[in-house]
Amino acid sequence: MRLSDCHNIEDFRRLAKARLPFPVFDYIDGAADDELTKARNTEAYESCDLVPDVLAGVEAIDTSCTLLGRKSALPLMLSPTAVQRAFHWQGETAVAKAAEKYGLWFGISSLATRSIEEIAALTSGPKLFQLYVHKDKGLNASMIERCQVSGFDALALTVDTIVSGKRERCLRSGFTTPPRFTPASIWSYATRPRWTLDYLLRDKFSLPNLDTHVSEGSSKAVSIAEYFNTMLDTSMDWDTAAQIRADWGGKFVLKGVMSANDARRAVEIGADAIMISNHGGRQLDGSRAPFDQLREIVDCVGGEIEIICDGGVRRGTHALKAICAGANAASGGRLYLYALAAAGQEGVERSIGILKDEIERGMRLMGVTSVDLLTEHRLRWR
Ligand code: FNR
Ligand code: LAC
Repeated sequence: MRLSDCHNIEDFRRLAKARLPFPVFDYIDGAADDELTKARNTEAYESCDLVPDVLAGVEAIDTSCTLLGRKSALPLMLSPTAVQRAFHWQGETAVAKAAEKYGLWFGISSLATRSIEEIAALTSGPKLFQLYVHKDKGLNASMIERCQVSGFDALALTVDTIVSGKRERCLRSGFTTPPRFTPASIWSYATRPRWTLDYLLRDKFSLPNLDTHVSEGSSKAVSIAEYFNTMLDTSMDWDTAAQIRADWGGKFVLKGVMSANDARRAVEIGADAIMISNHGGRQLDGSRAPFDQLREIVDCVGGEIEIICDGGVRRGTHALKAICAGANAASGGRLYLYALAAAGQEGVERSIGILKDEIERGMRLMGVTSVDLLTEHRLRWR
């Protein structure tokens, strides 16, 4: 199977599975406990159907929208995800460049393997930084300040990761950051020489936004669960979020809001957007899907705050359904991560290109010429 054989996100997943050592693939693909929430995140999009209008004159269509004050060419964002250098040697650079090429928002994680400064210098396109609140207050302040100085467009505070979800695939594989070869997994590294040689011979893995303050994850290998459970601040609360919002001063997003009550509180602390998200099913298994929660949150705070529906998106029509149900945009991680892992920047560009085509085709087939015409009455619930 080659990149040119990939025609949908599931194809990239298969290619990534073939090309990656299993601990790395399972870190990307895996989720918490029984992975029920991860599956539901995508299945939720089957709870409703699109009702097209015909004869609408769809020669020229406009797929763009404004998110957090900047233009986005599609109602789709690339969610922040950690340790991309472990997936492909090009890491976050590949995603930043592909996002810029397609005019999309993307995010880098606190656990990014490229520095805030490097990413800011690479692209003038819309970009957000995802903040994990650490026990080390100096580290939190340093990340915020570096984003201010570098001109990041938004800060997203992740609020669903107060402790790590139970990721059983990672417990079995022993995946660490940085990746380490273990007796149980060495064979899979040996049989994926392209990944392994790229990992060993190209730029060294590091977490440059954290390693000024902590060695865990960079020079000291730890599992992601151990990192979360020892480094992050479990006392984080609404006052912390309001304080970070004030310290940052720019566009502010709460990532991981799932209830209408919390969405209301996000409005109250002056957040500009919420990402309805369960972290791709990697945290609380059994929690509801973002798309299932979308309407009740839209009913509560729609029009007062931007609403981004994050997780489970694998098709252009999933994004269209999210917009019809009231979201300002859809967002996702694995929708570009499998492609990054399989084929670097070329892969990410191909996956975004496919989703762009699907969104454009879907709009034409629905008889819709602009994103604001994607409204609730084009949906029927089963
Ligand atoms: C993530 N996600 C994530 N979120 C975050 O706030 N900080 C992070 O560092 C990461 N890291 C990360 C790594 C990997 C491998 C994945 C798959 C996900 C969650 C991410 O931003 C997003 O919420 C989910 O990916 C959405 O689900 P889908 O689109 O992957 O189904
Ligand atoms: C994850 C992180 C790092 O989901 O947020 O693995």
